Amino acid sequence: MQNSLPRLNLSTTHKQMGKKVAQQIAKLVTDKPDAVIGLATGSTPDPMYKELIRMHKENGLDFSRVRFFNLDEYVGLPYDRPQSYHYEMREKFFKHINAKPENIHIPDGMAEDLQAACADYEKAIRDAGGIDLQILGIGETGHIGFNEPGTPFDAITHISRLSEKTRADNARFFGGDKNKVPTQAITMGLKTITAAKQIILMANGEHKGNIVREAMTTTPNQEVPASILQQVADKVTFFLDRAAAKHFKPYQQLFSVR
Ligand code: PGA
Repeated sequence: MQNSLPRLNLSTTHKQMGKKVAQQIAKLVTDKPDAVIGLATGSTPDPMYKELIRMHKENGLDFSRVRFFNLDEYVGLPYDRPQSYHYEMREKFFKHINAKPENIHIPDGMAEDLQAACADYEKAIRDAGGIDLQILGIGETGHIGFNEPGTPFDAITHISRLSEKTRADNARFFGGDKNKVPTQAITMGLKTITAAKQIILMANGEHKGNIVREAMTTTPNQEVPASILQQVADKVTFFLDRAAAKHFKPYQQLFSVR
């Protein structure tokens, strides 16, 4: 099994990082109009979505045949609630482009049978031919999707229990009240994510610096879920802004990040 370092792409600002990732997506969509793209929520991808919307409106970037699969969704949070990822994705991205509703997939955290919803989601990804490009953020726990520390590397789409740290981090989207953050989510598993043909992990801000360094340099282990990306490093690029790369000494020298 391969263990090397993912590629790095450094930007000065969060906004510039988002634009560069949007360009990667635009290139894929131009080369393969029915590409399968895995998407992420949270604040990290905001500038990327803004740029993709601009490219759609100003340059006619066509999403009509693109198939989208989101990483995760809270369990038990109705889709008309602004904190749900169904709502967030619609408002932030899908309603501004020409994606077809039947091509948009987000795990069903309101399903009566959550296990069946997980199995259906995994199958839908497989039936689509697998993910061509997966976009990831990273949590300060090292989670990708909602795969928290301790998640087995061979997990497929499953119900995860959110760590207390993640609930505290996401309380900012719930009026600052951690108790309002759901305790569970449906998430693509680490095996689902690493099966993607290409993977881009984005991180911005100094608060992500330590976990990014760990994810890239610690021996892959379940306590740092994102460290699994080293095992598929040949298809992974970390897009970082200067602040997130701050603690990254070897790369600071390589890329003159101050
Ligand atoms: P953030 O979340 O983009 O809001 O920082 C990232 C994550 O938790 O994966």
